[in-house]
Amino acid sequence: MMHCQRAAFSIPRDVHYLNCAYMGPLPRVAEEAGVRALRRKVVPTEIGPEDFFRESDRLRALFAGLLGGVDPARVAIHPGVSYGVATAARNLPVGRGQNVVLLHEQFPGNVYAWTRAAREAGAEVRTVRPPGGAVSPGGTASSGSEEGRGAAWNQRLLEAVDARTAVVAVPHVHWTDGTRFDLEALGARCRDVGAALVVDGTQSVGALPFDVAAVRPDVLVTAVYKWLLGPYSLALTYLSERFDDGTPLEETWIGRAGSQDFQRLVDYQERYQPGAVRYDVAERSNFALNPVAIASLELVTEWGPGNIQEYCRGLTAGLVAEARELGFAVEDERWRAHHLFGLRMPEGIDLASLKEALQRRKIHASLRGSALRLAPNVYNDGADVEALMEVMREAAGRPPA
Ligand SMILES: Cc1ncc(COP(=O)(O)O)c(C=O)c1O
Repeated sequence: MMHCQRAAFSIPRDVHYLNCAYMGPLPRVAEEAGVRALRRKVVPTEIGPEDFFRESDRLRALFAGLLGGVDPARVAIHPGVSYGVATAARNLPVGRGQNVVLLHEQFPGNVYAWTRAAREAGAEVRTVRPPGGAVSPGGTASSGSEEGRGAAWNQRLLEAVDARTAVVAVPHVHWTDGTRFDLEALGARCRDVGAALVVDGTQSVGALPFDVAAVRPDVLVTAVYKWLLGPYSLALTYLSERFDDGTPLEETWIGRAGSQDFQRLVDYQERYQPGAVRYDVAERSNFALNPVAIASLELVTEWGPGNIQEYCRGLTAGLVAEARELGFAVEDERWRAHHLFGLRMPEGIDLASLKEALQRRKIHASLRGSALRLAPNVYNDGADVEALMEVMREAAGRPPA
């Protein structure tokens, strides 16, 4: 069992940061790597031709390792999730009369490219809703659990995929309330009907294991600045063999065969670098950001997403049990993550005073409508959980113990 890693971060003791789903804090080692990385540019000779490749390849290898050990050449370096999804949309055909399957209230990064593709092709967009309607603002909780909701939503998702489905574009874990989707079952369903599976791993990769060999997605795109604890403006995208002959959004010089030989860059090449490297964004050898991301991913790799998930489970088990007693509704364990989950308020809670109490105690979590989204990580400890519990007891009208 891993223990609290707060010392690896610089979060002040009086700040209870339970919002990694918004932005992950930069670990100390990544901050130091960033300062060193930025300084190199002061004297350009510090950056050699091999640095255009070495750091990018290290980043690919680290991400590939977190996905269960895929070929690092299958990883492209992107500036954000939308870029990875745009790459997918450019290369995955959607035809007239086909459909694209999405989830209700999904993060827009994996939505707009598909609604456009469907509109332009004359295809249908199927947005799969959970039972009971909205995911987040929703109604208040009527009991201490969300009986059957996650299971039923997963079932609806599988049923929405049919012989006319071109693309299924979903997350592993819903960004608003942590509902978990069974991607192995979904991947199998997609293969049965010949649909492509495009996964947004931004709210899961790093804190929840993802096994590419088991899910077999066509695309898995992940922003680095949340659960990978890295810098903003960087995303890593796994692309399956299906993309080996595809068209990148940009035609970069470094994505072409032989780009390592700086003397011969104007011997223009038809061929690309192997794997997914052709899909890299221009100037992917980001000398300021890549070393920061490498330090962060090394740390996440050392800790292990499975251990991080277990840590979050252990940390929040008591909180979830007590929240249920107080009347908050929490999704069943089987259908939610432990690093990201929602607490739906019982009736009668004064949201304005709850918000004020959270601010006063410096508890950072996301309050959307009548749901509180908690997103803990390895820097959180019992003091963070206890601070939140005190506020919840107060909100539910329980006198302090
Ligand atoms: C699920 C998910 N995907 C993607 C993003 C970010 O997308 P982009 O990198 O295109 O800004 C977020 C940000 O909150 C997110 O929650």
